[in-house]
Amino acid sequence: MFKFQATVLFLLFCFVQSSQAQKNVSTTSGELNRRVDSLLRLMTLEEKVGQLNQYTSDWNFTGPITPDNDKIGQIRAGKVGSMLNVKGVEHTRILQSHALQSRLKIPLLFGQDVVHGFRTTFPLPLAEAASWDIEAIELSARIAATEAAAAGVHWTFAPMVDIYRDPRWGRVMEGAGEDSYLGARIAAARVRGFQGKQLGDLDAVMACAKHFAAYGAAEGGRDYNSVDMSLRKLWEVYMPPFKAAADAGAATFMNSFNDLNGIPATGSSYLQREVLKGKWGFKGFVVSDWGSIGEMVNHGFAVNDKEAALLAINAGSDMDMESRSYRNHLVALVKEGKVKEDYIDDAVRRILQKKFELGLFEDPYRFSVLGRQAEQWNKKENLIAAREMAKKSIVLLKNENAALPLSKSKKLALIGPFVKSVRDNLGFWSIEWPDDSLRIVNLWQGVKDKMPKGSVIGYARGCNVNDNDTSGFAEAISVAQNADVIILTVGEASDMSGEAKSRSNLHLPGVQQRLIQLLAGTGKPIILLVHAGRPLVIQDAVAQSSAVLYTWWLGTEAGHAIADVLFGEYNPSGRLPMTFPRTEGQIPIYYNHYNTGRPAAHDNHSNYVSAYIDLPNSPAYPFGFGLSYTQFDYGKMTLSDTLLNSAQKLKMSVTITNRGKYAGKETVQLYTRDIAASVVRPVKELKGFQQVFLQPGESKTIVFEIATDDLRFYNEQLEYIWEPGDFDIMIGRNALDVERRRIRFIK
Ligand code: BGC
Repeated sequence: MFKFQATVLFLLFCFVQSSQAQKNVSTTSGELNRRVDSLLRLMTLEEKVGQLNQYTSDWNFTGPITPDNDKIGQIRAGKVGSMLNVKGVEHTRILQSHALQSRLKIPLLFGQDVVHGFRTTFPLPLAEAASWDIEAIELSARIAATEAAAAGVHWTFAPMVDIYRDPRWGRVMEGAGEDSYLGARIAAARVRGFQGKQLGDLDAVMACAKHFAAYGAAEGGRDYNSVDMSLRKLWEVYMPPFKAAADAGAATFMNSFNDLNGIPATGSSYLQREVLKGKWGFKGFVVSDWGSIGEMVNHGFAVNDKEAALLAINAGSDMDMESRSYRNHLVALVKEGKVKEDYIDDAVRRILQKKFELGLFEDPYRFSVLGRQAEQWNKKENLIAAREMAKKSIVLLKNENAALPLSKSKKLALIGPFVKSVRDNLGFWSIEWPDDSLRIVNLWQGVKDKMPKGSVIGYARGCNVNDNDTSGFAEAISVAQNADVIILTVGEASDMSGEAKSRSNLHLPGVQQRLIQLLAGTGKPIILLVHAGRPLVIQDAVAQSSAVLYTWWLGTEAGHAIADVLFGEYNPSGRLPMTFPRTEGQIPIYYNHYNTGRPAAHDNHSNYVSAYIDLPNSPAYPFGFGLSYTQFDYGKMTLSDTLLNSAQKLKMSVTITNRGKYAGKETVQLYTRDIAASVVRPVKELKGFQQVFLQPGESKTIVFEIATDDLRFYNEQLEYIWEPGDFDIMIGRNALDVERRRIRFIK
């Protein structure tokens, strides 16, 4: 026994030495594989299973907690491969020091939901998506990674790349909206941002594309609910952002809580082994969602936890987050011959490989250095980037009689439950810090900072977010009466969207609508700011307001960014990444639906067509919608050709002119429609977009290209093909406002 241990330690010594000799963490893949294999050979089955086990810290948790007083003991025994919800150099160092007491001294991986910023909070991911600014989104992820990596975090559980079409689902705040093309572009940008140049760099964290797959289609928008859909829809709508994330090199994937066509995603070998690790050649590892392995018993897919472990490992789930099913059963399952040790080895290899790539064997504390954490704390340039991102995320929905931008000479009344909110501005999935109240810029602060010194700004809370208390109404009216303009904040509280925050009612909660109505009665113009993590039903509120800005939750610099837009220092440029319904009964509503056999011809058409008899057919706001303080005119579209063969590319161009008074940015959107195909095709599909910044009076010509590769789809046999025939090409400002031309592609 002693001899065996001595040999092991000697080997380990040589192995660590050789790693330390490597100044540069990046090694060739051959070398890396050899190092992984030599370590794997030293490991007992128990130690291997330990690498597949992940716990939350006791400092913070993001799911149902399982009491466990012995986590440290298990770490020291080599039975834990990763911890989540451990952040900060101090905490990560403590836990890592325990891991280094284990026999093989394999370092822990620290994971954290760094979803929209770390120390500096950026806008909600859905809000960022509204910027359609891929570079800015990548930068936001880059900064989040840099701050997190300096605080000991190796791995973020982001980006969330689920597509969804139901705003009742609380997690819409976390992704990039309803469209697969935009979603795929953003997924890749976020992966690039998080992972930087290469894993192993001190400013890079591993990305995790989640939740694989189709979690966004939870029936009825109710979180964790089942999903039943054709494979064609899965591939056409839900898979593209995952594929884009894999192609961008995402180091890890997370599977999902939902069952997909009767198989829990966590136990799906189709998704994990066949598609992800097989067809897509994914070399990273898959982590389960919180407890999702054990939850396969609740699904009725496994009789007990042991069977759940068997099904999950066989299906390709490599790491068990918090369910303890692997810890409790995998060793026995291997010994009983029910799980092949090869599967365990493969999972361990994938995880060790990432630990090597991160350089943790060279120095397990390399991400946990106090000086670097301090250096990344409150970096001015990060705050500037957060403010920029926040400005770009705001969407102007209405601006009657140029009510915005505001003049600083106006007497303002700031009313509503969010004017002085502080933490709300961070939104769900943000990391809270003890000094938040001192550093988050709320609306009150943002507006005060802009107004001339000594200006008197009226304030009344008016009402709470979600109760029936109207005792603040009288004060709100009197404050409004003394002002020229009312800036009114309404919406849902920041914790009304997020995980497990599905809502059946998307109207403004509490008595907020009544407050708007009363304030409208004063005759003063209302500038409405809507804070939310999802599209809300706000038609009545919009009707009573002169201008409406959708301000989501914008992060640390929220107040500054909103004030920049209110006073015209930034001309709003956001475009909706989700269709906004008129009312909940229209859900699901999304722009790229099929035409049906009886499409409605116009908004009020309901006689024997696919429509509701009590609602117009259009949404409140279409996908891609957003106004500007200026006016962009679109010239006529020109096409390089209208009859093309498969080798040719179609070129389309359109000239955009800024006819208004303000410089501004327009997002020019390109959609196509396949007129007839072997399977029905959506009425529109986004195929490209370009942003153009124009001074007043300035024009620019935008050119797009389309090749037959861009017209591919999944046919009945799930082959990804294009079919010759007629196509509509549409260019415009949003999914409903486009110019349309017909072209033909022949073989
Ligand atoms: C969520 C994941 C998250 C995990 C860890 C789960 O409940 O679904 O998105 O990464 O918790 O916090």
